[in-house]
Amino acid sequence: MAKRYKITIVGAGNVGATAAHWAASKELGDIVLVDILEGVPQGKALDLLEAGPIELFDSRVTGTNDYKDTAGSDVVVITAGLARKPGMSRDDLMKTNAGIVKSVTEQVAKHSPNAILVVVSNPLDVMSYVAWKVSGFPRNRVVGMAGILDTGRYRAFLAEAAGVSVRDIQALVLGGHGDSMVPLASCTTISGIPVTQFIPADKLAQIIQRTRDGGIEIVNLLKTGSAYYAPSAAAIQMVEAILKDEKRVLPCAAWLDGEYGISGVFLGVPVVLGAGGIERILEVPLTTEERIALQKSAGDVKANIDKLEL
Ligand code: NAI
Ligand code: 2OP
Repeated sequence: MAKRYKITIVGAGNVGATAAHWAASKELGDIVLVDILEGVPQGKALDLLEAGPIELFDSRVTGTNDYKDTAGSDVVVITAGLARKPGMSRDDLMKTNAGIVKSVTEQVAKHSPNAILVVVSNPLDVMSYVAWKVSGFPRNRVVGMAGILDTGRYRAFLAEAAGVSVRDIQALVLGGHGDSMVPLASCTTISGIPVTQFIPADKLAQIIQRTRDGGIEIVNLLKTGSAYYAPSAAAIQMVEAILKDEKRVLPCAAWLDGEYGISGVFLGVPVVLGAGGIERILEVPLTTEERIALQKSAGDVKANIDKLEL
């Protein structure tokens, strides 16, 4: 490690603890896990620290209930909040999680005023707005994780259907997280070859629907919570892109101010992610159908933002 970065992960539950695991195994920096539960962040952090000599990583991992220990973090991943159970939509989580994300963000912004915030709590696009509004940070320093997860699901299903490596699938999913996501057919290729040369249209439509329902498919299987391996891997891919200034082109939730003709919402769009956080929002040409779907997705997020009392 050239510079020892400090990564705070708020919420030591399934997503937070697994994100700490990925971050430590990649030696991205020293990790602080914070939660309101006493003992849980401390216990999980100690357990992970003790994996270091076995897995050979030198990240310091600590757990705490006190935000003073998070001071001066370079990146803060916010995973605090309730997760979905069967029968619940992401929007059902809105009121409770808005209160949690608000209080967490106040603490984080006070102790790490220069950090980049990676928001994971659901409903993602609305919680990204809460974190941005409450922190007062510029829009490039608040970024939501959803598109990488949704695209990851899409790519996994496409690779399986085409019988090829996941490495060779390129795809882009825009819009809000979940039901209103907008997969871009024109950007779905297998090593540059249009996916339609591998997968017939009806199968592709089934894969897109399965991707939209990807979160609930796992909730219904687990019954006690929601997905966390792929979500935490996605969040840590963003952390890595930021800390290593990788300039990765990734679908992330960003505050839109006229891009795609949309303003006043966080929405999934392709961005360049580097040391400055969201360094650029990329505008790709959309078909009329895709543009309408993106506008609808933005409208859904905006309606939820309007319901918030911050
Ligand atoms: P979890 O229930 O396992 O963990 C949540 C943790 O947050 C718990 O340990 C809880 O004690 C903690 N917490 C609650 N209030 C807190 C506060 N005020 N301060 C600090 N910690 C607090 O849930 P899980 O599975 O880790 O999911 C976390 C969140 O991430 C949920 O809202 C879930 O819906 C969301 N999520 C979002 C995804 C996305 O694509 N954006 C994907 C997967 C999960
Ligand atoms: C997911 O998509 C619940 O948002 C979470 O798995």
